[in-house]
Amino acid sequence: MRQQTQIDLAQRVIDFIEQRGTELTDEVFLNPVDTYTSEEQLAREREVFFRQSPLLHCHSSQMPNPGDYVADELSGTPILVVRGQDGVARAMLNMCRHRGARLKDGTGHCERAITCPYHAWTYSFEGKLRMVTPSAGFPGISPDDRSLVMLPCVERHGFIWVLPQPGGQIDEDKLLGGMDDEIASYGFAGYKHHDTRRVTKAMNWKLVIDTFMETWHVGTLHRDTVAPIFQPAVNVFDAFGPNGRLIIPRRTIIELKSKPEAEWDFLPRTAVVYTALPNSLIVWQGDHLEIWRAFPGRHAGECIAEASLFIPRAPQNEREKRYWDKNMDLLLRTVEEEDFPVCEGIQQSCERGGQKHVTFGRNEPALIHFHQQIRLCLGLPAN
Ligand code: FES
Ligand SMILES: [Fe+2]
Repeated sequence: MRQQTQIDLAQRVIDFIEQRGTELTDEVFLNPVDTYTSEEQLAREREVFFRQSPLLHCHSSQMPNPGDYVADELSGTPILVVRGQDGVARAMLNMCRHRGARLKDGTGHCERAITCPYHAWTYSFEGKLRMVTPSAGFPGISPDDRSLVMLPCVERHGFIWVLPQPGGQIDEDKLLGGMDDEIASYGFAGYKHHDTRRVTKAMNWKLVIDTFMETWHVGTLHRDTVAPIFQPAVNVFDAFGPNGRLIIPRRTIIELKSKPEAEWDFLPRTAVVYTALPNSLIVWQGDHLEIWRAFPGRHAGECIAEASLFIPRAPQNEREKRYWDKNMDLLLRTVEEEDFPVCEGIQQSCERGGQKHVTFGRNEPALIHFHQQIRLCLGLPAN
């Protein structure tokens, strides 16, 4: 992040702390509860967001070497990304061209080729079928006609994006829009994967994102976990097209006041939550990176949430490893034991139908922006 941006953001935060204020939108926003409960809306989201939009698939450090792969079908499309001998990450449908068996699960490494677990057809890391075997069984069928189906894939600043639809294109410059240079400046491409956890919850996928979109619940909901760390109730938010940047200041930020501006070290004193529409968060946590991804489950009231933690360098000893493990534990304890139970309660309230809208306050600008953009992309009325 540019030094001047850091100074400007720190000044905005300090001003709000001193004035006991926060950033306000012009109006409150009434968000229809249908957005969390409607199967019709979910069907549209699956098409617009989870088939036609590039999705953040993983971080480069989860598949650093030729033959490494990361597979999932959380979007509804079975996606396999493999790093080629040339170092390029390529995405393909995780579907054997013989009878459609899944080629790989989760993360791992292929030794020489991608081998189907069913009848051992083998494909190069670039998705080319090597041989149709047994040849007598498949007369007239050429390996060229049975290569894996490729998906558009882009690796940029350490993040690997995949469009779950064959034949489309990813516009690299649009992925992070106006946040691209800033995200590049952190040097996340050199970070290392530390841990990933995935959970299934009885709540709509957008509630995973919502929980990161304001800070004024920190003082109440998180009073025994992260409230001593973060400054509650101060939102500093900037929209970058459909995406956005929310500053979640640590309490230590106020110490900057006693230093000359030229010495302001802003980034260790804050979390920065970047939304990457539709379903991902790139979170700077003061000294490490988190990625959150949210996907719909089997119906509107179910989701799969995934949290991953990345660190500037691999732990050099047990003490460093324990430090990052503790970070992961605190993250999961806070979100899984505190945020998500509340979100599941919100889901139940919405499903019981007692009210048509939930109310987003003027002090929740990031939340309002996220839902306005969702509605815009889906062609829904503003609210
Ligand atoms: S399904 Fe893959 S080799 Fe038969
Ligand atoms: Fe929270």
